[in-house]
Amino acid sequence: MPLLDNCAVVVVDALRATTTMAKILEAGAKGVLPVADVEKAFSMRAENPELLLGGERQNRPLPGFDAGNSPFDYPETMVQNRLVVLSTTNGTQAVQRVERARWVALGSLVNARACAEAQRRASDQGLVVCAGTEGQLALEDVLAAGAIVSYWPQEFRTDSAHLACALYNRWQDDLIQGIRLASHAKTLIDQGLEQDVDFAASLNIYSRVPIRQSTGWFAYL
Ligand code: MLT
Repeated sequence: MPLLDNCAVVVVDALRATTTMAKILEAGAKGVLPVADVEKAFSMRAENPELLLGGERQNRPLPGFDAGNSPFDYPETMVQNRLVVLSTTNGTQAVQRVERARWVALGSLVNARACAEAQRRASDQGLVVCAGTEGQLALEDVLAAGAIVSYWPQEFRTDSAHLACALYNRWQDDLIQGIRLASHAKTLIDQGLEQDVDFAASLNIYSRVPIRQSTGWFAYL
């Protein structure tokens, strides 16, 4: 990614990490820190027992953590004014892979318009990084990326941005059906997590964007 240094990067893991991190801040948390590995999360809490730990492996909450990776795991009563460290299989790893970028935000369908607007304020070069699943393209991420780039001017869109936009345009009037086509959505539904899938299809319910601070934590400005 040669342009990474100058780009305003939005990382997307629509099911479910970036949707859940947006929800965590929306519920009043002071900050959320995506970490790639579970041991790091535990060692951070050993230093600061006030930290909440969340995340998943195989989509299930991790033993010893306070919550999983469902947006419904983080009610206001739990996260208000707290700091949350989240470790997930793909999404938090994708955030780590773009750590060199000057500006990084967390995007999804829930905050697509706000992401595009914040990105354009931050730089004239925007990049959307889709986390995917285990190294494979994930339909739900392309769908959310398409929603974000649909708010970019046409002339700024690369071929991949046009493709993502075409997928979004196809499903924008029925995002629940669109997101349910994704294989990861089917897995989550099989595991009883249907409401997480449907929640992730809620377009623009949030008007703020989690943006990485100089500390590495993501917060609302
Ligand atoms: C991930 O980061 O791989 C996902 O958010 C998985 C999930 O919990 O659905």
